[in-house]
Amino acid sequence: MGMNSIDGTVLVTGGAGYIGSHTVRSLREAGREVVVLDSLELGRREAVIDAPLVVGDIHDRDLVTSTCHEHNVTQMIHFAAYKAVGESMEVPAKYWRNNVAGSVDLVEACLASGVHDIVFSSSCSVNGTPAVVPVTEDAPIHPESVYAESKAMVERILYWYGQTSGLRSVSLRYFNAAGASFDGRIGEDWTHSQNLVPLAMKALLLRDRRLKVFGDDYETPDGTCIRDYIHVADLADAHVKALDYLGRGGRTVALNVGTGVGSSVLDVLKATAEVAGESVPYEIAPRRAGDPVATFADPGLAETLLGWRAAHGLREIVQTAYAWHRSEVRRHRAG
Ligand code: WQD
Repeated sequence: MGMNSIDGTVLVTGGAGYIGSHTVRSLREAGREVVVLDSLELGRREAVIDAPLVVGDIHDRDLVTSTCHEHNVTQMIHFAAYKAVGESMEVPAKYWRNNVAGSVDLVEACLASGVHDIVFSSSCSVNGTPAVVPVTEDAPIHPESVYAESKAMVERILYWYGQTSGLRSVSLRYFNAAGASFDGRIGEDWTHSQNLVPLAMKALLLRDRRLKVFGDDYETPDGTCIRDYIHVADLADAHVKALDYLGRGGRTVALNVGTGVGSSVLDVLKATAEVAGESVPYEIAPRRAGDPVATFADPGLAETLLGWRAAHGLREIVQTAYAWHRSEVRRHRAG
């Protein structure tokens, strides 16, 4: 009986990043052996807690194949990518080279090392502004940025590797990842983030700025945009279950990973105020170009195929994010 792919080690590219580091911890808690490949360009070494870290680039075919052989890698999760939507429209070549061509180099090295199960970090942004909510997996692919296009392209490249070389993959289309680990050990780095939850925590904890709410005149109950905020621990769990699904022989598929619940910007600020016991200082600002008025997932297919569903809601997201960022502020003040 050949070794089942879930008996081997998981190579996690980008495992020193936000969702990657939470997924590494979930894999270890599930008893999986892990090795992380990260360039540390954006990731943080201290976020890799209980797995070996190989510092390098996904383009480096020799490094990937030697890592796979030395660590008995049988499955891979590919997080490593640039993800700044605005930047992707200013310097697209960075995104074509790293997100797309880098994934091709990585897949080639994996196949050369006998790795045929890949979970890919995709995004709900491949659908752009959804015409219908909740969003299902057969919604039109309509990227509205170079970043989103790079995710849609890699999904198609993985599909074709399935046709030409027997690669099987699960592309997980994340909705809005947020929150921090329940034990407070890892969380999001707010340094460069443009996302709502970290920026709301910054306005609340640093008290040196007001959060800009990008528009309160949308066709929604309170006028602000609606999103599907999903706890990073739930996202991590979806990756563990996707590898098990591939280990069982599951076919190539793209899956929405969201809670199925839509929350507005003001819902997030209200939940934050309840948790922190004080309000987030904010001001209403002009709408942000490219913002869909509402998007949230239909997570039914992931539940059916993976036996996965989100266990946490908006309150745990803001509770863990607040605790994490408050501890980070104290840590940096302590010097
Ligand atoms: C959320 C809501 C803003 C900041 C992003 C990426 C997307 C995907 C998911 C990776 C919106 C509002 C935000 C602020 C605000 N990531 N907002 N003031 O744009 O929904 O999606 O994460 O795959 O690619 O773009 O997330 O956190 O930027 O915005 O009012 O200072 O919060 O208008 O309605 P977004 P976000």
